[in-house]
Amino acid sequence: MEKPLVEIKFLKKYFPVSGPSLRKNSYVKAVNDVSFSIGQGETLGLVGESGCGKSTLGRTIVGLYQPDSGQILFEGTEISALARKKMNLYRKNIQMIFQDPYSSLNPRFTVGDIIEEPLIVHKMYTPKERTEIVRDILALIGLKPDHVRRYPHEFSGGQRQRIGIARTLVLNPKFIVCDEPISALDVSIQAQIVNLLEKIQQERGISYLFIAHDLGMVRHVSHKVAVMYLGRLVEYGPTDEVYKDPWHPYTQALLSAAPIPDPISARNSKRILLEGEIPNPIDIPDICPFAGRCRYVNIECSNFMPKMVESGQRKVACFLYYNKFRKRNSEDKDKLFSQIKEEEPK
Ligand SMILES: Nc1ncnc2c1ncn2[C@@H]1O[C@H](COP(=O)(O)OP(=O)(O)OP(=O)(O)O)[C@@H](O)[C@H]1O
Ligand SMILES: [Mg+2]
Repeated sequence: MEKPLVEIKFLKKYFPVSGPSLRKNSYVKAVNDVSFSIGQGETLGLVGESGCGKSTLGRTIVGLYQPDSGQILFEGTEISALARKKMNLYRKNIQMIFQDPYSSLNPRFTVGDIIEEPLIVHKMYTPKERTEIVRDILALIGLKPDHVRRYPHEFSGGQRQRIGIARTLVLNPKFIVCDEPISALDVSIQAQIVNLLEKIQQERGISYLFIAHDLGMVRHVSHKVAVMYLGRLVEYGPTDEVYKDPWHPYTQALLSAAPIPDPISARNSKRILLEGEIPNPIDIPDICPFAGRCRYVNIECSNFMPKMVESGQRKVACFLYYNKFRKRNSEDKDKLFSQIKEEEPK
């Protein structure tokens, strides 16, 4: 099988927090043991409630945060362990588009300067070649040649997001993390930006990690989807399969709360109301993060973290599936249940 372009293995990013009621060494486990991979030309949608760690995951992958542990592999090379100079070679291939097209562009630079800057930083091409590249990119993103001399404030939100996209494209990346690239834009503009991203993907074979709140949009753009809850990946799989038949109780609740355009399935689907609250993210124990709100909660859920189990292209971290997809009487299972017994109150 072809090697994935990007592989994330057991990635952790914890933020130390302090406060009068907190014990020493308290942490927000923003990204906790996350593993997945993204193929060339593939879009992985990343969904989950606010604060579950999506942006932190994206920022750690592009190198804005140092991971606490785990690995990030790009074309099979572990980039999180590379020396700075060598890492820069890879970093060019991995770019990020941010949510806010207003604050992410330097207001004192012209559009031409903004788009050219990454090439200057990486000492690439002659000035004449750079001018040509900027001109070509402007055409690709749908701006006019004379826009190079204008400043960001002269453009609308959608145009600014195009400029932000252009800035990432000059380095010819193979992978772009799109962190809610459309949520700050008017609904009428959102589709244009998504279409642009899809066109770029088709022309250049770029892979995306597409972070968004809009579950309908994620379904539209993503080949695969990953669902996060409190720093953990709880479900992963081909988008259509996950949307048609979500496995994890959290995914089921999340999708049932989203408006479904298909009138037939909308009639048959009941909204699952989430009970309880999202737990405080500080110092969460290593148990199923969803245990406190789950309809199917069982004793093992409140004592242990379910490992990801796989079936076909799908993965789920839930004890409901643990027995289904594991070999019967596997060592793991024996160990798990003996531990539960040992730890039951006398
Ligand atoms: N720099 C930081 N320092 C401390 N805590 C942080 C920092 N950045 C994020 N967090 C915490 O980490 C957790 C995950 O935050 P993150 O921004 O990654 O979530 P998110 O899924 O992107 O949310 P949203 O959908 O609102 O953008 C939150 O509890 C947040 O408060
Ligand atoms: Mg975010």
